[in-house]
Amino acid sequence: MTTLLGISGSLTAGGSTRTVVDAALAAAQAHAPDITTDVIDLRDVTISFCDGRPPEDYPDDTPQVLARIQDADAYIIGTPIYRGSYTGTLKNLLDHIPVEAFMGKVVGLIGNAYTDHHYLSIDQELKPVLAWFNMHIVPGSVYVRADQMKGGEITDERVRDHLRQLGEAVISLCHSLKDSPQGPPPLVLWPRKKS
Ligand SMILES: Cc1cc2nc3c(=O)[nH]c(=O)nc-3n(C[C@H](O)[C@H](O)[C@H](O)COP(=O)(O)O)c2cc1C
Repeated sequence: MTTLLGISGSLTAGGSTRTVVDAALAAAQAHAPDITTDVIDLRDVTISFCDGRPPEDYPDDTPQVLARIQDADAYIIGTPIYRGSYTGTLKNLLDHIPVEAFMGKVVGLIGNAYTDHHYLSIDQELKPVLAWFNMHIVPGSVYVRADQMKGGEITDERVRDHLRQLGEAVISLCHSLKDSPQGPPPLVLWPRKKS
């Protein structure tokens, strides 16, 4: 059974990133009814700042969140664009994730921004760190502007269609890569410090 996990990288109450992540997950589920979908919304969990401890040593939701990420087979990651990049809260989560949890797995990406100015943020900021994890990144990503949504709904048909294509592509790539060789691991694998 394939588990597709959405990660919504916004802390904003009433924000729209969760909406677009959900739309991509729903499209994937419609495309492949036998998969399981789940979502980690960073508004709903308390995650410590990463300080290099092993995951189980954090006192809040951090270990459970990392376990859910470890157990998933594929991901849809959505992030607001902040300062021309992805959010700090998403970076903190990525800092926590053991490289083995993401290695060789498939991810599709969504940027959610106010304007088109930072269209390349997903390619230039988020993709490199996920490439470091040796993830398989769906080549096409979705970039949503504020004026393509209203009242918590996607109002632009093209955005809806792109989210559908992303959800379907993540599942297709995940299934086609099953058990395929991953190539060499990332160079930097270091032990976590016990507190
Ligand atoms: C701190 C901060 C920085 C932002 N920086 C950018 C930016 O560099 N480029 C941009 O297009 N939008 C920027 N925005 C707008 C958000 O990306 C946009 O409102 C997005 O839809 C927020 O998603 P959310 O509703 O899920 O939080 C910024 C918003 C905040 C709060």
